[in-house]
Amino acid sequence: MERLIPPTPSLKGTLRVPGDKSVTHRGLMLGALAQGESTLYYPLKAGDTLSTAQVMRQLGAEIAEQGEHFHIKGVGLRLQEPTDVLDCGNAGTLMRLVAGLLSGQEIFTVLTGDASLRRRPMGRVTTPLRQMGARIEGREGGKLAPLAIRGGGLRGIHYELPVASAQVKSAVLLAGLFAEEDTEVVEPAPTRDHTERVFRHYGLPIELEGNLIRTRRAEPFAARDLIVPGDFSSAAFFIVAALITPESDITLEGVGLNPTRTGLLTVLKEMGANLSWEVTEGQDGEPVGSIRARSSRLKGVSVDPRLIPLMVDEVPVLAAAAAWAEGETYIPNLEELRVKESDRVAAIAHNLQNLGVPVEVGHDWLKVRGGSVQSGVVEPFHDHRIAMAFAVCGLPKGVVVQDAEWASISFPSFWEELERLTGKV
Ligand code: S3P
Repeated sequence: MERLIPPTPSLKGTLRVPGDKSVTHRGLMLGALAQGESTLYYPLKAGDTLSTAQVMRQLGAEIAEQGEHFHIKGVGLRLQEPTDVLDCGNAGTLMRLVAGLLSGQEIFTVLTGDASLRRRPMGRVTTPLRQMGARIEGREGGKLAPLAIRGGGLRGIHYELPVASAQVKSAVLLAGLFAEEDTEVVEPAPTRDHTERVFRHYGLPIELEGNLIRTRRAEPFAARDLIVPGDFSSAAFFIVAALITPESDITLEGVGLNPTRTGLLTVLKEMGANLSWEVTEGQDGEPVGSIRARSSRLKGVSVDPRLIPLMVDEVPVLAAAAAWAEGETYIPNLEELRVKESDRVAAIAHNLQNLGVPVEVGHDWLKVRGGSVQSGVVEPFHDHRIAMAFAVCGLPKGVVVQDAEWASISFPSFWEELERLTGKV
């Protein structure tokens, strides 16, 4: 489906973004593992997380939609052997985290996904999970899905993550809940810490010592309700849209402001953004608050490479902001973006060029020269965040977005909300 967005004069109003994707995946998995019934409040109901609900149902949990929420009846640590393969769709977080869970279970499972997910690197999780004792087979020696897993009999390991990845960290920690002896993960740089926070919420073992995270075998644990905050990564599209569109002033409410997610706010501030935010409450271990964004004159910056793991999913929309900034923006440390839902370094460069923006590309960096955005066509490369980021980039001049339905992987109401805030409905 193609979407034509006419030139937009302004964005105004208040928005509540959908539930956080990362927290929803974890809430569904741990609610399914818990003993008894609980409600996951305000979860994200989108392509990726509906895949997780379906996979956890196949593993024996009862998950029912209850209005906006999910009612979950957990299995009490013992998952059931599914009668069919588990389809993770487009969701890397699902495949990698559930591989950790399944490594701890004495059942046979096969994980597959869509064409994009079957291209993404899985060796980063199969290597440590095999070290813990899981038997895992997969294409190219276990580097690519489909993956066949027979778990059980795990021992704890001390694992130094070769990449700063919350998914790999989480896979090892989830397996650690079923291992003899302690499991320790050392991060090369901080990444999103939702797994640690959710473990604490359920009373599961978790200890932090600097960049080392430790867990151990879990006893059956009681189900507990969990409130999902709004997704900062979804909010990011509207923040940048308001900054680059004249006469704009929007407020986002109920947004997760976990500091391991908000690196983009630091960079946008440095670019001169008229942006303020405030943490107003702590919801089940996650800071939540509101963000106000107004039209701004942005200037190019050189982004601190240490911020990238704290804004890994926001780089496409940062590139959109850079396209409107005065001068050059240099974005380093992008190696991981090559293996996301698409090769995001290439997809960003391609779409910037489509919109008339000069860009230089290295293997792990981008240099964007701002100030010359024209109307054009956006090609999402089957990637939800590329579709939304470049719809935003083209907003002030008007833009055509191909395959716009990809937004529904993480933000099904994106186009309607955009129309509402731009006054087009
Ligand atoms: C996620 C971790 C990140 C992020 C992804 C969600 C998570 O992936 O890009 O969208 O929920 O743990 P990596 O661990 O590959 O950086």
